[in-house]
Amino acid sequence: MIKVKRRDFLRGAVAVSAGLVAGRAGSLAQSSKAADSRVEILIGEEIGTINRDIYGHFAEHLGGVVYDGIWVGENSKVPNTGGIRTALVDAMKRIKAPVIRWPGGCFADSYDWRDGTGPRDRRPRRTNFWADAPEWPKNAPDGPWKFETNHFGTNEFLRFCQLSGSEGYLAANVRGLGAQQFYEWIEYCNSPAGSTSGAERRGSGETPSRDPFRVRFWGVGNESWGCGGNFTPEEYAAEYRRFTAAVPRYGVDLKFIASGANVDDTNWTRGFFSKTVEKNRGLFNGIYGWGLHHYAWNVSLGKTNDWFAGKGDALTFDAAQYYELLREADRMESLINQHWTIMGEYDRQRRVRLVVDEWGAWYKPGSEVHPSHLLGQQSTMRDAVLAGLTLDTFNRHADKVAMANCAQLINCLHSLFLAHEDKFVMTPTFHVFEMFMPHMGGTAVRAVFSAPEVQYTRADKPAEFWGLAGSASVSGKQLTLTVTNPHLSEPREAEIAIRGARAGSAQAQVLTAADVHAHNTFENPRGVEPRSEQVAVNPGALSFRFPPASVSRLQIALV
Ligand code: AHR
Repeated sequence: MIKVKRRDFLRGAVAVSAGLVAGRAGSLAQSSKAADSRVEILIGEEIGTINRDIYGHFAEHLGGVVYDGIWVGENSKVPNTGGIRTALVDAMKRIKAPVIRWPGGCFADSYDWRDGTGPRDRRPRRTNFWADAPEWPKNAPDGPWKFETNHFGTNEFLRFCQLSGSEGYLAANVRGLGAQQFYEWIEYCNSPAGSTSGAERRGSGETPSRDPFRVRFWGVGNESWGCGGNFTPEEYAAEYRRFTAAVPRYGVDLKFIASGANVDDTNWTRGFFSKTVEKNRGLFNGIYGWGLHHYAWNVSLGKTNDWFAGKGDALTFDAAQYYELLREADRMESLINQHWTIMGEYDRQRRVRLVVDEWGAWYKPGSEVHPSHLLGQQSTMRDAVLAGLTLDTFNRHADKVAMANCAQLINCLHSLFLAHEDKFVMTPTFHVFEMFMPHMGGTAVRAVFSAPEVQYTRADKPAEFWGLAGSASVSGKQLTLTVTNPHLSEPREAEIAIRGARAGSAQAQVLTAADVHAHNTFENPRGVEPRSEQVAVNPGALSFRFPPASVSRLQIALV
């Protein structure tokens, strides 16, 4: 996306006002007068195919994600399919969730996958990686979230994926287990029926699988610079090579994802890639993705950098905290560019793509729906805006980003769903994922946005943030435009011009709320949900009013 200055926008508005869009009633002259913003979609300037996996998810054995969130058990009164929460499966199908990363996160590098196989009543009980986390609410009960029962293991997870229509992305333990156990996990999941491990797979408790799962995505560790082993990038490059050398494939196109950088740690990216190229440039053939993690929290307000106190609250925030959180999330664009540039210095043929396998907003504890939900938080309209601008960023970098996984799916950070026992609700972020579905598999095309910048005050100093941003993609004759207006109080009246095609008709969906703190609760599950709106299709351009703090989707039929 290119953001242009207001002066250039006004010049452009005159230049492109003729011969753009044929359509229904409405006058370009009138809409131009009212417009303060402009979006120009350049159909001929293709960026790349938007990988569906950009709309992926992440589920870790952390707090209420697995136990209470996904897994309720076969004997539960909560409607379930073989122990898996049916309402969740239905919602995942609704958004055609493409991929789910599991079992962590930091948990992955403490997990022995064999503990989660075999008859459930014989599986061992272990201390969960997060059992001692300082973030636990004082009244957190003991349970499988602290003392892992292993009732949800490989078969149960991959069954959840099958039910949801998703692919599994398994993250291996590099800190604690060896390459041998990694090979054996791949063998367990992918070897043909009738082989030794196939027999073991059939015997896995109440969710046997005779046929191989054919898991393609394998993460080689998680945050190997930190909880995943405290490696240097050079050490990790050696571990990565050892884990992925000559792995049995069983006819599956295995896609390895290396543990990439934390936020802007370009040394980690440079260290890994330079070491890999030193050994053999051809090794890049085997690396599908380079993981990147970036969370948004309010440390930038200058109050403190402390891990706890530096985080804002999910429900109580002022304008500065709102805009600063969006600004932090919006770093995603520069992070993608930074890491991508370094990767290209070594991987000249561009075989490795970026996989942003953890992203989202992270607040301090206190808004979780149940004390067993470690790192659980409510999700407001602010989080929907954050999700919209992040997904748009990924779309705009469709040539670089092969997968992304929102952290985390349910009862945790930036969740699409909140659940406790038989209660289940979709957050505003779920609605953003659903609204963005038409982008999946589409061809991203360049869009140029021009809008007055947001002015606000940060730590007593004036600050600015962009006025409108978004992404556009084409699938056949359908053009999808998604747009975020971050302004807390001002709508943006935009003129939308399409270069290289004509619009026949258009319809919009808008997600917004009278108050940006609005969120969905068990008592009021439909407080925030999208509504349909008319789009004015004028002879020269479309026009649309983007409400304050909103995420909008326009679907435009091209003729
Ligand atoms: O998503 C929570 C944690 O954040 C993950 O376990 C870890 O990978 C990251 O630091």
